[in-house]
Amino acid sequence: MNEHDAAPAGIAARAIDAVKVYGSGTTEVTALDHVDVELEAGRFTAIMGPSGSGKSTLMHCLAGLDTLTSGQVIVDGTDLSTLSEKQLTELRRDRIGFVFQAFNLVPTLTARENIVLPTRLAGRSPDEARLAEVIAAVGLGDRLDHRPSELSGGQQQRVAVARALASDPAIVFADEPTGNLDSATGAEILSFMRNATRELGQTIVMVTHDPASAAYANRVLFLADGRIVDDMADPTADRVLDRMKRFGDDLAEAR
Ligand SMILES: Nc1ncnc2c1ncn2[C@@H]1O[C@H](COP(=O)(O)OP(=O)(O)OP(=O)(O)O)[C@@H](O)[C@H]1O
Ligand SMILES: [Mg+2]
Repeated sequence: MNEHDAAPAGIAARAIDAVKVYGSGTTEVTALDHVDVELEAGRFTAIMGPSGSGKSTLMHCLAGLDTLTSGQVIVDGTDLSTLSEKQLTELRRDRIGFVFQAFNLVPTLTARENIVLPTRLAGRSPDEARLAEVIAAVGLGDRLDHRPSELSGGQQQRVAVARALASDPAIVFADEPTGNLDSATGAEILSFMRNATRELGQTIVMVTHDPASAAYANRVLFLADGRIVDDMADPTADRVLDRMKRFGDDLAEAR
């Protein structure tokens, strides 16, 4: 029994009336403007929107990497504002997985050692059954004992995704995870992430600029000027592209 057992089932993370203001006076920027969003467990959600619309800010605030100016973020049933810095660090380490554009692997460790590193750092032994499942899903086969420099970009990102999934986190945040990959390799990573939601029930939230990438998700949230302006279920690349084009029209109209 741990404190997370009391978490309400169904919602992995939510933001309630979330406001984030950077700077003050003439340099003040409202990056999040009263955002309310619920991210259901076991689903793959993409966040899209023009540059500067608040995507990274929303993700960083949901992941406890940045704090709100006002409002609340609840992750896995815990209101982040009630946590001390130490508790927040522990929650990030134990309950949240991260995948970045730059793979951020430790060069001196093998693929397998990289995958279990966060668990080891938390002072725990890896759950071997979970690990076997994740490793089978990434399909690295005989590359597991190689170091990152001996792996292709796609293989390195698969290691990074496996690392994020290995500790069975409540939610995985991915910031442009295929930004540094060619499209075929990117498609592989996205399929893998989609399978992780289907087969392991993993909750994933991904920021992307690419409609084809967003189409791998179950849901797409569209941000503009710090607000959620649209919420699309079962996206296709064409529908996402059409919605993105309207941002251009909206802007032209406003001028
Ligand atoms: N540390 C900061 N200090 C001041 N302003 C910031 C800071 N971080 C972000 N901003 C501003 O907040 C707004 C939202 O930024 P954010 O990085 O969330 O956008 P984004 O949607 O991720 O954009 P991109 O697609 O370019 O990555 C922008 O106007 C940005 O300039
Ligand atoms: Mg960003």
